[in-house]
Amino acid sequence: MRLDRWVGEALSSRAKAREAIMQGRVRVNGVPVRDGAYGAQDSDAVTLDGAPVGKRAALHLMLYKPAGCVTAREDARFSTVFDLLPPALRTRDLCAVGRLDRDVTGLLLLTEDGQLAHRLISPRFEVEKAYLARVAGRLESGDILRMAEGVPLGDFTARPARLEVLTSAEDFSLARLTVHEGKFHQVKRMFAALSHPVETLHRESVGGVALDVSLQPGQCRPLTAEETARLYALTEMKP
Ligand code: URA
Repeated sequence: MRLDRWVGEALSSRAKAREAIMQGRVRVNGVPVRDGAYGAQDSDAVTLDGAPVGKRAALHLMLYKPAGCVTAREDARFSTVFDLLPPALRTRDLCAVGRLDRDVTGLLLLTEDGQLAHRLISPRFEVEKAYLARVAGRLESGDILRMAEGVPLGDFTARPARLEVLTSAEDFSLARLTVHEGKFHQVKRMFAALSHPVETLHRESVGGVALDVSLQPGQCRPLTAEETARLYALTEMKP
């Protein structure tokens, strides 16, 4: 964790923390560190004016993203997922775990642990993301096979994905697609490549952590200890 964030949480002010750091009042393992961007490790002993500064546990949230807002901190045209957070949480140092398009609904994870966010979207850890899609036209067994083989998308070939067809009719089908990566517009591009353009898309789960059915669109809640532990285990990290 950045040193200015660590100390900022104790002082309830990142600016005051930076000032204290610049003045040489903050020590890491007994050595004054004057760089707020210094990456302090969990095992480090941080002091301010000689007094130990405890580290606040990182916050992790699940948000039911509604359609219409963008996954960004700020946007000139649209409301953002951060506008949906209760005011007390908007000042926290949360980042979104990947992006959902403006029209896409469902589970968006937000975390103060940047490394966790990075690993959850990295192809290296192959974290599963499950989407419920309504697509144009009738999905057939050939589509399941093509998704399982990996769909060429021009600039890259999507990794093998699991397609479960839930209902299939001439005009539209409902299906669950489980992917292990998250490139830009990936799910929409995969269905489009099979000539079944996506009409609506909703993310159900990430890494086996499912969107809480008691949440309404726009609402969020902290992850439980079990959910948090699961995400850390999947990404080979310690909470
Ligand atoms: N795939 C998409 O096409 N869009 C999203 O928002 C997420 C996955």
